[in-house]
Amino acid sequence: MNILILGDICGISGMKAIKSNLKKIIKENNIDFTVVNGENAADNGKGITKKNVEDIINSGADVITSGNHIWDQKEIIEVISNNNRVIRPENLLKGQPGKGYEIFKVKDKKIAVINLIGNVFMKKSDDVFLAAKKFASEVKLKRDADFIVVDFHGEITSEKMAIGYFFDGKATAVVGTHTHVPTSDTRVLNKGTAYQTDLGMCGVYNSVIGMNGENSLKKFLKDTSAKRHFPADGEATISGLLVQGDHETGLAKKAEQIILGGS
Ligand code: FE2
Repeated sequence: MNILILGDICGISGMKAIKSNLKKIIKENNIDFTVVNGENAADNGKGITKKNVEDIINSGADVITSGNHIWDQKEIIEVISNNNRVIRPENLLKGQPGKGYEIFKVKDKKIAVINLIGNVFMKKSDDVFLAAKKFASEVKLKRDADFIVVDFHGEITSEKMAIGYFFDGKATAVVGTHTHVPTSDTRVLNKGTAYQTDLGMCGVYNSVIGMNGENSLKKFLKDTSAKRHFPADGEATISGLLVQGDHETGLAKKAEQIILGGS
């Protein structure tokens, strides 16, 4: 089972790269299942619109994960309530719409995808480790799903590595999202789980984490002419991880970083 997991799509340029290239990437790499983090896909880089969801799914993605910006575009509330292909972090504070994980059928296999959000330097949410423990008791490899993918949307590397360590041997892949910077620690952990601390973004790298660099710098310099952050123009780089899942064990045989196009 070849699983492709892509980092946060950032703004118009990120969406353009996905619409132009994702189908080709899926075909060339014999991908069976694609997960894309879409939480910055909207034109202003905040949240995801109904049209973004349609475009990402029509480009070949099977599931869209998200994060702290999930509710920034209000129309997503209706979409997430009716479309199980869009998920939000499982450990958001109680009472929010949508689901944090879902199990999908692919050919004769079942793939579970869970989205989690970190507790450190992020908006208040429920304890991510308790949520991970609860999920791991509810959805077990080979018992409830043939493959399990974890998208952990978080700011700090230690929390992300700890979640990777927690899921080692329990999930096919654990990937981090949110920082928009790809880490070069791609590997298969000791007990067989593919891991990368952060996938990076599907966005313009000649920027400050996808946002216009000049304007971002003005903000850091306290220049009063700085505007609200807005995504950078240019050719986006597609960043993610390609995981080869073992049909016998549900664990990873191989993990390979993908960085395509752009700068
Ligand atoms: Fe985020």
